[in-house]
Formats: sequence, structure tokens, C-alpha cells
Amino acid sequence: MRDTVFVPSFGNRPRNLVGREEIINQFETSLQSIPGSRERAMLMLGQRGSGKTVLLLEFADIARKHGCIVASPTVVSKEMPSRVLEKLREEGKAYLPGTKVQLSGGSVSAFGFGGGFDLKMEDQAPRSFAWDLSRICSDLNQNGKPVLILIDEVRANQDELRQLIVAYQEMVGEGLDVFMVLAGLPSTISSVLNDHVLTFLNRALKINLPPLRIGDVEFYYRKAFSDLNICLTDEQISDAAQETEGSPYLMQLIGHYLVMGTEAGGAISDSLFSSAIQKAKEDFMNDICETALAPLSDKDIAFLAAMAVDGDTTELSDIISRLQCSSSLVQTYKRRLIQAGIINQPRRGVVQFAVPYLRDYLYKNYAD
Ligand SMILES: Nc1ncnc2c1ncn2[C@@H]1O[C@H](COP(=O)(O)OP(=O)(O)O)[C@@H](O)[C@H]1O
Ligand SMILES: [Mg+2]
Repeated sequence: MRDTVFVPSFGNRPRNLVGREEIINQFETSLQSIPGSRERAMLMLGQRGSGKTVLLLEFADIARKHGCIVASPTVVSKEMPSRVLEKLREEGKAYLPGTKVQLSGGSVSAFGFGGGFDLKMEDQAPRSFAWDLSRICSDLNQNGKPVLILIDEVRANQDELRQLIVAYQEMVGEGLDVFMVLAGLPSTISSVLNDHVLTFLNRALKINLPPLRIGDVEFYYRKAFSDLNICLTDEQISDAAQETEGSPYLMQLIGHYLVMGTEAGGAISDSLFSSAIQKAKEDFMNDICETALAPLSDKDIAFLAAMAVDGDTTELSDIISRLQCSSSLVQTYKRRLIQAGIINQPRRGVVQFAVPYLRDYLYKNYAD
């Protein structure tokens, strides 16, 4: 059976976007806000596979429908500032006064709106990124075009990110009609927020991507499998949706393995169903759980392994006795792991895993 619906790979746009209505509404509301409003800078946080890149791409489409010129998602790297400028110049070229062409003897501004040559010599002095960005945005604004800048995979200690934030702040100060959305992992963003140059981001609208609603996943599976002429029972659909724990990536993986496991008549036996779910969970644990643990210290992992022996939740007092360490040390690790988006605290003195199947992964790999 060929899978034409599910796309379990990063940055791959799904055929249908499941859920996320609240965040999209929030973004649409921010597009209506006046220049300088706080919600025009948004910081989206989520583990790998939680759908950050997909949402950035969605935001790009929505903003274009609202008449914005968009710098499509750019990953932070040395080239990021020039990529952002290139993207704005390319998408906004119909609204920018002239495109520089290189002629012998210097750079000349050519083909303005009227078509003919405008022989005004451009100043040759190299300009800073902030100057270039503000100039492009201001030209686009003057032609009635707001600007949206989308940045993906933000990490700590990136000079290029600092450059962009400084430039954005200056543009906000000048009253330009600009928007910016940044996305990254919760663990790295917490150090970004502690960087004094970037304290501006503390005022940005922060969105922690929540899991998808199981009901939305179930609804989507029902439609997707019916479009593919695959007849799952109601119970199988509901079980498959539960097993995703609301992770968009796991939803795609489970969908994909179920399609691949379907027999000729379009049905799937209970044993093939179970093995498809199992394969999807194994891929998920290798891709997501392993990456989530990679930046953590041995002590962090010992904390998590001490949680893994319990069911859904763990009392902090049990961690203290299992690790035989002080309460203040356990509090410190708890705070770090909450900031990193690995655990959360549903109520005082109690913690639980925030990453699906991390408990099983730790139990399998780290329990003595
Ligand atoms: N809202 C959604 N509905 C359906 N599929 C989604 C959704 N969000 C993400 N996905 C799928 O999940 C996977 C991971 O998404 P991605 O945006 O790459 O995550 P991240 O950037 O957070 O690592 C991709 O296969 C993508 O198609
Ligand atoms: Mg991504």
C-alpha cells in the first residue's frame, strides 16, 4: 500500500493541519495590532516534532493573505542576516524602489517603477545589516506592505540572532510596520532569554506548543483512513489517536505505519495494528527522546530515571529519597528540567514527564 497522506519527517508540511486553531487565531489577531504592540514579536517553544516549523510555514501563508511581505523561515546560521534580506528583496521586489545592478565603475540603481534607467549613483559605503533591513522594511511599508520575519531553530549564543533582535528593536522604535516570529527548543530558549542583549525577547508573546487534542487527532485519522479506503474499526482509530499522546510527529508516524501495515482488502488485523504502533513508537523514541536527553547532564538524567519507575506522576519527596540528596538540590534540578520543557509540575510537590514516551524510553535504557 502506498502512503499518500502521512508525512513523518521534520519540516514537512502535512496535507492537513490538525488543531492549532488558538495559536493561528492569536497570530491573526497580532496581524491586526498597531506597530509597536508587544504581540508583534512572538516566541514559539516546543520539543522537536511538536510542529514549530509547520506553524511558521502556516504563519507565512496567512501573513501573505493579509498583504505582508514575508521572509520565509530561516534557520539561524552565519548566513541568516543576508538570507533574510535576500528573501525580503525577492518577495518584495515589486514594491522596492529599484534593484541594484553591477555595472563597471560601481553600482547603479536601475529600472525603477517607470521601466527606464535611473542613473542615481548609490553610496558605496558598506552598510550594517540593521541599516539594510530597516531600509527595506521602510520602503516596503511606504508601499503599503507590512513585513514578517520568521526565524527557525533559535539557539543560545548566536551573534546573528543578536544582530536581528537589535535591528528589530530599532525598527520598532522607528514605528515601522514589522512582525517577527522565532521558534526553538524550550531548553535553548531559556538561555537565550537570560542573555542581556536579548532581554527584549522576555516581553515577546511566548507560546509553548501544547499537545494536539486527542479528539482532533481521532477526527483526522477517521477522515484520512477513509480517504485511503482503509477500514479501521472505531476502536482501532480511537486507540491509535490515544497512542499519539497529542504529538504531531507521532501522529504522522503512527498514521504512516498503519497505512504500510494494511492488508490487500483494506483492513488491518489486531497483530499488524499493534506492530505498526510499536514501530512508530520506536522511531519516535529514537528521534525525539534521544534528542531531548542529549543536552542534559548525568544528574538531570538521574533525576528523570528516578521518575521513570513510577506511573503517571512522581512525588518530589520520593525523588529525594531515591537519589539520597538534599531537597534544595532536587528543587534546582526540577526547575532546570521544567525550563527545558522535559517535565512539568501539575501540582505542588509533584512532577510528570512533558515529552511523550520519555518515561518508557528512560525505563528501557536507564533503569538499573
Ligand atoms: N498541526 C499539525 N497537523 C498535522 N501534522 C503536523 C502538525 N504539526 C506538525 N506536523 C507534522 O509533524 C512533524 C514534525 O513537524 P515539524 O514542524 O517539523 O516539528 P518541529 O519543527 O517542532 O521539529 C512533521 O511530519 C509535520 O508534518
Ligand atoms: Mg523544525
